[in-house]
Amino acid sequence: MTRILLATNSEQFENNVREALEYDGALRWWEDDLGAGVDLESLAKELTSTGAGVIAVGPGVRPETAIEIADHIDKIHPEVSVIVVGSLGAKMWERALRAGVRDVVSHKADAEELRQVFWRAAEATILARANLLPDAAEKARKDNRGRVVAVVAPKGGSGKTALSVNLAVALAQRHPSKTSILDLDLLFGDVTNALLLNPEHSIADALDAPQLDPTLLKVLLTRRERDLFVLTAPDSPALGEMVTNELVSSAIDGLSGQFEYVVVDTAAGLSEVTLAAIDKSDDIVFICDMSVSAVRGLHKVVSALHTLDMLREKKRHFILNRADSKVGISISDVESAVGMEVDVRIPSSRLVPRSMNEGTPLIESAPKSPVARAFDEIADIFSPRGEPGATTKARRWRQ
Ligand SMILES: Nc1ncnc2c1ncn2[C@@H]1O[C@H](COP(=O)(O)OP(=O)(O)OP(=O)(O)O)[C@@H](O)[C@H]1O
Ligand SMILES: [Mg+2]
Repeated sequence: MTRILLATNSEQFENNVREALEYDGALRWWEDDLGAGVDLESLAKELTSTGAGVIAVGPGVRPETAIEIADHIDKIHPEVSVIVVGSLGAKMWERALRAGVRDVVSHKADAEELRQVFWRAAEATILARANLLPDAAEKARKDNRGRVVAVVAPKGGSGKTALSVNLAVALAQRHPSKTSILDLDLLFGDVTNALLLNPEHSIADALDAPQLDPTLLKVLLTRRERDLFVLTAPDSPALGEMVTNELVSSAIDGLSGQFEYVVVDTAAGLSEVTLAAIDKSDDIVFICDMSVSAVRGLHKVVSALHTLDMLREKKRHFILNRADSKVGISISDVESAVGMEVDVRIPSSRLVPRSMNEGTPLIESAPKSPVARAFDEIADIFSPRGEPGATTKARRWRQ
């Protein structure tokens, strides 16, 4: 979520922006006029310390002052996008560009223009922030441990399990025997059904062990065909309740010590266990469908994770499920409400429930279907086909 801050005393402008962005929270930073003699460098520090990704300066601030503030912000936080609200002459434009001002907009701009300007600025910040992050794969490789990818959604039925299972199978096709999946829907996990497994053990079998060492972990894993290893959820909710955050953390450590990829399916919401998994993850894949409740829920979850400072140094990805549903909201509505760009859209298809019921992931049973292609595209984010170490499908088939 990219926070927006309006450095202005104009309530009218705040209302206009709120309306344009369909946002009902506070946006404005100061109540009084910007008095003379203010130290603009400290002001820039104060503004950026709020964590805002987009800062609009004005109306009610002289253009020269706004540009100077932008210049200071650019020096401390070049990834933050600054919008000057006002009108600039040609000379002033040049200075604005040199100061790193992202855009200039009139305080009289209509809702559509405001939406465009703020959205473009937020997008630029998202990209700039992503580039500032160390590459998750690189980091994982350096630590000599696998890449942990947690699939998270606030709302039940968003498609977490469908995505986790297909992503894990797609990664296992590229990296046979080097991929694992952990079912952290500890009460009602259904990875077992979706992969047609008959596990002998689950994560709960480690409850009595003093520690989850590599030998015990190997015993607890269920092997699916040759390629994929699964640490399943217990089949009794009572046992699931007993699994602690510490056990979850050490299970993820153990798996990432042995596998190149660890996909973590989570339960709906943001439980303690999910937070423990997010803490151990390199990548968080947020998924939601086109319903207002899912979008609102996701916005809240992302904001909560920001507040808890749990997204630092994590790569975030946003998947829109059932993206072709005609439900009166557009994809750009979803993107601006959540504050993230959609990376991959998964269409609706009856093949999804059918494949989950049959226990045969779509990526294998109907690899050419639009949904399977979307899953493949998601797997490409983590391991593009043809990358060193990745087994291509063609090679696998010839084996
Ligand atoms: N793109 C899709 N098209 C059609 N049906 C889908 C799609 N994605 C998921 N489904 C179906 O929606 C239901 C919920 O999906 P899934 O179990 O993956 O969600 P979940 O987020 O894991 O749910 P829970 O929170 O209950 O674990 C399943 O029946 C699944 O088959
Ligand atoms: Mg699920």
